[in-house]
Amino acid sequence: MLHLTDVRKSFTQPDGSELPILDIPEFHVAAGEQAVLVGRSGCGKTTLLHVIAGISRADAGKVRIDDWEITLFSEAECDRFRAQRIGYVFQTFNLLSGFSALENVLLAMRFARGRADKARARQLLKRVGLEHRMTHRPAMLSVGEQQRVAVARALANGPKLLLADEPTANVDAGHQQQVLDLIRETCREENVALVLVTHGAEVAEQFERIDHLEQFNRAGAVA
Ligand SMILES: Nc1ncnc2c1ncn2[C@@H]1O[C@H](COP(=O)(O)OP(=O)(O)O)[C@@H](O)[C@H]1O
Ligand SMILES: [Mg+2]
Repeated sequence: MLHLTDVRKSFTQPDGSELPILDIPEFHVAAGEQAVLVGRSGCGKTTLLHVIAGISRADAGKVRIDDWEITLFSEAECDRFRAQRIGYVFQTFNLLSGFSALENVLLAMRFARGRADKARARQLLKRVGLEHRMTHRPAMLSVGEQQRVAVARALANGPKLLLADEPTANVDAGHQQQVLDLIRETCREENVALVLVTHGAEVAEQFERIDHLEQFNRAGAVA
């Protein structure tokens, strides 16, 4: 369901020169497939997820999700497509600070569909163990609890693709497996393809498919 072809992405450095980060001939994920993405810090994992989600643009190449070639979309089309069809768990959460845990999930639903499914929002928060924290705003939640809200929000609209950037990095050991299980079980139940970035060997080894970015990213060789 996800196909990348000849995707390239560079950043302009402060001295004006180009720093190539991604040069990926091929990358595929099938519908409902679960892949973990690993690689050293700075090798382009977050950049790759951003390009797949249309948060940042590839300089060249194609990103296709189901029948849509998102590299042809305008920025507004990318935002709408992402809201409706892609779940994204940001490394830094990106929760809305003025709203409670429940409202954060409900607002993601309202933005994507114009209406919110309160029962599903509550159920997702319950599954991440936050039934007693629904009315807390992010500042009143621990870092690990904020990450769990971010996971519930990413699953809110029943995405077909879930991109998760180190979703358990800030979760305490006791909740790490719970968050991972929630992500994987929900993806399995709803046939959601998953690309999950992690540093944790204990997380990665639970997946059948482990992709090393440096092995299929040609830009990695020169970085
Ligand atoms: N906006 C940017 N401008 C310039 N360089 C960037 C920018 N964003 C990321 N980079 C560089 O791109 C490289 C890859 O970053 P990133 O994808 O965040 O790595 P990872 O997630 O694998 O740790 C890093 O070396 C980083 O410094
Ligand atoms: Mg990163």
